[in-house]
Amino acid sequence: EARRMSAPEIRARKGGAPIVSLTSYHAHTAQLLDSHVDLILVGDSLGMVMHGLETTVPVTVEMMIVHGRAVVRGTKRALIVVDLPFGSYEASPVEAFHTAARILKETGAGAVKLEGGVRMAETVRFLVDRGVPVMGHVGLTPQAINTLGSFKARGRDDAEADIIVADARAVAEAGAFSVVVEAVAEPVARRITEEIAPPTIGIGGSAACDGQILVLEDMLGLSPRVPKFVKRYAELGPAIEAAVSQYADEVRARTFPAAEHVYAPKVRKVS
Ligand code: KIV
Ligand code: NA
Repeated sequence: EARRMSAPEIRARKGGAPIVSLTSYHAHTAQLLDSHVDLILVGDSLGMVMHGLETTVPVTVEMMIVHGRAVVRGTKRALIVVDLPFGSYEASPVEAFHTAARILKETGAGAVKLEGGVRMAETVRFLVDRGVPVMGHVGLTPQAINTLGSFKARGRDDAEADIIVADARAVAEAGAFSVVVEAVAEPVARRITEEIAPPTIGIGGSAACDGQILVLEDMLGLSPRVPKFVKRYAELGPAIEAAVSQYADEVRARTFPAAEHVYAPKVRKVS
C-alpha cells in the first residue's frame, strides 16, 4: 500500500516536477482526487463553497475538523493540509499552536495552512519547531477581506509587490514547507519562486510557481462566479441539473422506480 506524502517530501520538490494540488471538503471527492494529486487542501473556502457564507471570516475550527476528518478518511496517498480559520491563530504563537495541534490530532491531517507574511513569521517558526508543518499563504489573503476591502489581485504596483515578496520570504525563512501565492501579478509570483527555498503553490500566481492549486468546485463548474485565474475543466452544474430534472419528471410520471429497482418477495424453496 502506498505511503502518504509528507510535508518534507513536498518541500523537497522545489524546482522539480510541479506540485499538483486541489481543495476537497468531503470523503468521496477526496477519494477521487487522491491518486491524481500530491496535496489536498481542506480550505476554509468551504465556508463559502459548502455553507453559503459570504466570506471565510465566520468559519470555525469545528467546521475545519469535521471536513478535515472526512477528507483524511477518504484518502491514502495525498498530503492533507487543513486551513486554520480566521480568529483561531492570529493573536499569539501559543494560540496558534493549540489550534493547530487540535486540528492535527482530531483530523489526522499532516499539516496546517495559515494566512499572512511578516506578521505571522514568528508563529510559523513556533509551530514548525514544535512538530506542526506549516504551509504559508501570501498575496490575496481572503481572511483579511474586511481590512483589504475587496478580493482583487495584489502586487500590481512596485510598492505592493515588494511587500508581498517580503511576506513570502518571512514565512519561508520561518520554516514553511511551501507557500501559497494567491492572485498576484505574474512578475511577483516569479520573483517569489526564484527567491524562496520552499516551493510556491500558485492560485492566480501564473505557471512560474512550483505547483498549482484550485478550488475543486470552481474548476468543475459548480461555482456560479469564478475569478479570472480559474479554468473550468468541466461544467458539472448543468449536468447535475439535467439529472435532477429527469428524476423529477420520472417520479411525477411514475416511470421511476422501474422493475429493476424494485425488490421482489423471497420465493420459498421447495425441496
Ligand atoms: O481556502 C482555500 O480554498 C484556499 C486555497 C484557495 C488556497 O486557501
Ligand atoms: Na483558505
